[in-house]
Amino acid sequence: MCEKCRGKFYITTPIYYPSAKLHIGHSYCTVATDTMARYKRLQGYDVMFLTGTDEHGQKIEDKAKEAGVTPQQFVDNIVLGEGGVKDLWKLMNISYDRFIRTTDDYHVAAIQKIFKKMYENGDIYKGTYKGKYCKPCESFWTESQLKDGKCPDCGGEVQDAEEEAYFFRLSKYAQRVRDLLVNTDFLEPRSRVNEMVNNFIDPGLEDLCVSRTSFTWGVPVDFDPGHVVYVWIDALFNYMTALGFENDKYDDLDKFWPADVHFVGKEIVRFHSIIWPAMLMSLNLPLPKKVYGHGWLLLDGGKMSKSKGNVVDPYLLAQRFGVDALRFFLLRSFPFGSDGNFSNELLISTINTDLANDLGNLVSRTVAMAQKYFGEHLPKEQREDEEKDAELISMASSLRNRYEEQMEKYAFQNALAEVFKVISRANKYIDENAPWVLAKSEEQKPRLARVLYNLLETVRICGGLLSPFMPDTAAEIGKRLGGAAMDWDSLARWGLLNPEVAPVAGAPLFPRIDMEKELAALEEIRASAAAPAVEEDPLPEPKEQITFDAFEKVEMTVVKVLTCEKVKKSDKLLKFTLDDGTGTPRQILSGIAKYYEPQELLGKTLVAVTNLAPRKMMGQESQGMLLSAERGDKLNLVMLDDKVPAGSRLV
Ligand code: MSP
Repeated sequence: MCEKCRGKFYITTPIYYPSAKLHIGHSYCTVATDTMARYKRLQGYDVMFLTGTDEHGQKIEDKAKEAGVTPQQFVDNIVLGEGGVKDLWKLMNISYDRFIRTTDDYHVAAIQKIFKKMYENGDIYKGTYKGKYCKPCESFWTESQLKDGKCPDCGGEVQDAEEEAYFFRLSKYAQRVRDLLVNTDFLEPRSRVNEMVNNFIDPGLEDLCVSRTSFTWGVPVDFDPGHVVYVWIDALFNYMTALGFENDKYDDLDKFWPADVHFVGKEIVRFHSIIWPAMLMSLNLPLPKKVYGHGWLLLDGGKMSKSKGNVVDPYLLAQRFGVDALRFFLLRSFPFGSDGNFSNELLISTINTDLANDLGNLVSRTVAMAQKYFGEHLPKEQREDEEKDAELISMASSLRNRYEEQMEKYAFQNALAEVFKVISRANKYIDENAPWVLAKSEEQKPRLARVLYNLLETVRICGGLLSPFMPDTAAEIGKRLGGAAMDWDSLARWGLLNPEVAPVAGAPLFPRIDMEKELAALEEIRASAAAPAVEEDPLPEPKEQITFDAFEKVEMTVVKVLTCEKVKKSDKLLKFTLDDGTGTPRQILSGIAKYYEPQELLGKTLVAVTNLAPRKMMGQESQGMLLSAERGDKLNLVMLDDKVPAGSRLV
């Protein structure tokens, strides 16, 4: 290790499924990891920042087939092709040190060795897999883990599955993993520990299926042809093979393992905080120091997903608002550990308030005044005013400590809030000292020079501390201050800027955005991109013909919604009581919760099939079915004019 280094720091992002182009939600974790990596480098750590792609599995195999290419060609295109994963990270200024692809030869060979070792030590054994399988999520679930009979992650259909498979003895490590989670800070934020213990460990950990025979796009189990290693051994061990574990490609394992932190999204916390440590325990390997489960970036309160067609394109946003503004927005607007709702309004107002008004104005006003009143550089002769300067100086010179305290807790939002408190204080300092008044008197020139110096010095410290978040902006601020020091030590020291600083003017760092115009422009882009998608939704297959008698048997009745509420513990179901004209309210359960809020349906006039045999859903009786119109992802209840009385029949 170099003498000056403070130590080493190994940080990772999840490796991404290249099954489709990445969206802004994927960029969230990578931007956070990049910010942390840059912050640690700024502090003087020798950093290893790993990211990559998780390229095996049935989903990729299927998508490749659909596209008429080989799985390798398919993933190569999404990872390396134009607008692909690597391009996106370049655009977002992601300073990764290493990029692993699970199809890399060295990784594949290492996974085979790892699988064999675990087989030989008895922690992997052959059995029969029976259960439910969610194809899009590539996850196996037990009956008890399903939600309303559907995949608990994506809510999609699951299939019965039974096949010969290898299993990892996860159950054997349940107690040790439980102790790790409960008694240490291994998993953060702490709320995620309760989730893991209550939802997964305490109900009983089952052994984990770790091989498949139903597809071939995976790492082959070399001692049992026909089996491929099923996702999590292949995916999780990337964190170690990328350092040289069980391969000769790299030689950094001793230096960087155990990892300091794995940043992962909340839905894969289970794999990282239960399965991963158990696998490492099986091989007697040191455990990572921390897993941090961050929240999701939501859209209209729901998950961003390609199938819902609501993903946000990071290319478009970066092109319109700039990469630094986008990076900043992601970490400034939401606490890292919780979910946050993305919206264009929030993005624009954050840019306008923090970047254009507060930071941008401070920099341009200060530089412009320095040039206007003093020309090329500030004079050496400057006059302090202890009373007037004390607060700004004290806030700016102690800022690094407060920022560091937050960054060490991965509280990016709070760290930025500290910086922006100082920026606001500096803007207020301009008003308090009114440089334009001081400039009127020759006698006040030394005082004026000091006021501007204090502002420039504050800009230096804030700019330096913003550099992990907005690297290009920080570099530009450095330039405007005539090449000021922005290394870690200098950011805790007041007065390092040369008193005769020669600031350089430039275009506004962040031009103000016209909210209304911009929203309209974005809406236009969205609408034109969305239009063809609707047309492309295929029509369903026509059904076989039925007789008029068969049709007549269906009783369709006009009903009015008396009450409507969500069914507890179900994401899908709404429970209705309906006036069907008989005088006795009718109860119907309908799986439309993701399309409607209960209150918006109160009083509406709908159509129900009223002679369907009643059936139970989530333990409650449903006496019929509400009619709706469906095309692709869209669903609309059939609604009639409110004048139509309840109890009328459709004929
Ligand atoms: N391949 C696995 C990870 C294996 S790690 C050994 C995987 N890949 S993924 O591409 O589906 O997701 C990668 C990461 O992106 C996950 O951490 C996931 O939480 C994150 N995100 C995907 N959409 C997201 C948001 N909308 N918001 C925040 N992060 C989200 O899982």
